Amino acid sequence: MLLHLSTWQEIEDYLKRSKTVVVPIGSNEQHGPTGLLGTDWLCPEIIAHEAQKTADLLVAPTFNIGMAQHHLGFPGTIALRPSTFMAAIGDWCRSLGLYGFEKIYFLNGHGGNVATIEAAFSELYAEATYAGLSRGFACKLKNWWDLRGVMALAQRQFPTGHGSHATPSEIAVTQWAYPNAIKAANYAPRIAATGPIREAIDFRARYPDGRMGSDPGQATPEKGGELVALAVSGLIDDVAAFTNEPPPEI
Ligand code: NI
Repeated sequence: MLLHLSTWQEIEDYLKRSKTVVVPIGSNEQHGPTGLLGTDWLCPEIIAHEAQKTADLLVAPTFNIGMAQHHLGFPGTIALRPSTFMAAIGDWCRSLGLYGFEKIYFLNGHGGNVATIEAAFSELYAEATYAGLSRGFACKLKNWWDLRGVMALAQRQFPTGHGSHATPSEIAVTQWAYPNAIKAANYAPRIAATGPIREAIDFRARYPDGRMGSDPGQATPEKGGELVALAVSGLIDDVAAFTNEPPPEI
């Protein structure tokens, strides 16, 4: 069930049977010469939208702009500073919490978001504590590649040149979902360099075509489809486990 294609009455009815909502979250940022700018928000959106076709999951609109300041040397990247990002995540959760959502599950597609999302959760928990509302409300962050078996499959598919940015696995997922947007390039070198992530000018100097440690030329839509299928089953089970977590003993 997709929140943006539902009515408020349908959400009210959903809340009678579940208090869990899944929010795909990512970043709109350069992904090398063949990766789509939307890669990091498309991947969690693709997986969550597939999952809700077979499971009774509510999927919120995708939070598609994240912490990407280090990619701002490449046109098309749009970034939120950590402080803005935290404020926005907080208001999304407060809005959903108003209606009774108690379990907010963020399916993430961008490693650079992790620290800020976790910090936003800490702010929300602090608020709940100070308001005397500490029980019942929980947020969870899961990277899509950490869903059961997904990273192991990616390592079997791409034993060399997986890298950490503009990876063949994430590009394969977008190729599966958007075959008309597949791009080609001659990569030089075939496997990109790797190193630290700092500010945007430093990043572009170190990684001139935007890749980090990756050879995205190995991506195929078929490999993407295998990754999506595995991620969907992992997501359905992980959300169910989060929903059914027993409350703590007091
Ligand atoms: Ni990415």
